[in-house]
Amino acid sequence: MDQGVRDAHPDLPMRLTTWLTAHQGTIELAAPIEYLPGNEFAKRHDGLVAKLVKLAYQTHFGRKDTFIAIGGGAVQDVVGYAAGIIHRGCRIIRVNTTTLSQADAGVGVKNGVDFGSCKNFLGTFAPPFAVVNDANFLPTLSDKDWRNGIAEAVKVATIKDEAFLNWLWGRADALRMRDLDAMAEMVERTAALHLAHIANAGDPFEQGSARPLDFGHWSAHRLEAMTCYQLSHGEAVAIGIALDMVYASLMDLVTPSECARVVALLRDCGLRVWCDELALRGTDGKLAVLEGLRQFREHLGGALCVTLPQGLGAKTEVHEMDEARIERAVALLRERYA
Ligand SMILES: NC(=O)c1ccc[n+]([C@@H]2O[C@H](COP(=O)([O-])OP(=O)(O)OC[C@H]3O[C@@H](n4cnc5c(N)ncnc54)[C@H](O)[C@@H]3O)[C@@H](O)[C@H]2O)c1
Ligand SMILES: [Zn+2]
Repeated sequence: MDQGVRDAHPDLPMRLTTWLTAHQGTIELAAPIEYLPGNEFAKRHDGLVAKLVKLAYQTHFGRKDTFIAIGGGAVQDVVGYAAGIIHRGCRIIRVNTTTLSQADAGVGVKNGVDFGSCKNFLGTFAPPFAVVNDANFLPTLSDKDWRNGIAEAVKVATIKDEAFLNWLWGRADALRMRDLDAMAEMVERTAALHLAHIANAGDPFEQGSARPLDFGHWSAHRLEAMTCYQLSHGEAVAIGIALDMVYASLMDLVTPSECARVVALLRDCGLRVWCDELALRGTDGKLAVLEGLRQFREHLGGALCVTLPQGLGAKTEVHEMDEARIERAVALLRERYA
């Protein structure tokens, strides 16, 4: 269990234990509830996976025994990775407790932990045994964590579902003002779009190069690391989407007004679309964020493939990103929104 969940729902461990006791014979706890820190710290802390492995070893955890991970995307990624490698993969039930994990991280087939300065350097593809999304977890989130899932909703709507994008435009104020009904509907539609892609697009385990669900992510992952994870994943994704929208407008893939509308949507939902690290330069004089492209290429396995919008609700893939055009996009983003 995510420590943040325990702190926000202090009666949950007791309620769980009571429920488990009442269902003895059907379900047994293999060990007392283990608490893991939330946030990216969990994924960068190389002792946590080892701790879970040791626990599984000591409790003679069998291949059909089940991890129940209750927490945000970071805890889901850590427990998912441990579950993915113990006995070459045992069961995990994901109980997602953040907007981002319910909409995206906890409903897919990936897990991962960080290594060095590279996010998700280690990880496996492992579909969960079951997923539970309960909106009752969401009211205790901080404003920042409440908003993070919205970035992934805007991401997937922009490249896949114009009707959903229009729905988001109509609900931006409600989402920003923490309307739970609006958030629950956003989460459900976003999760459904992610699932439909994984189930139907023909490449659930990403053998090919296209990564539509990573629209806006090449720079986002880099910005997270460059800010020492002061920027959360959702915050970085909002900036990454804005950057790639401006880039796409410079390629005439979207019109300036389509670009402006998506950026305005992010801002109306309370998400920033600029951070100063975007303009940082390395010793070679190049934008430091460009390292994100190299890491993204490496992660794909050689050839670059970046998803960009083509109009709204549709997408295209490009196999190179022009550095001069990225420079212009960064300059425009700064001029308009810094
Ligand atoms: N595997 C994937 O497919 C995938 C996809 C997208 C994102 N991710 C990863 O997900 C991570 C981000 O996940 P996140 O946005 O859920 O953030 P998070 O898991 O870091 O959680 C954010 C904070 O909220 C706390 N928290 C969790 N549930 C709470 C609740 N109900 N009430 C109060 N506090 C609560 C946590 O303790 C933490 O402090 C990133 O590492 C990202 O890379 C993975
Ligand atoms: Zn993401």
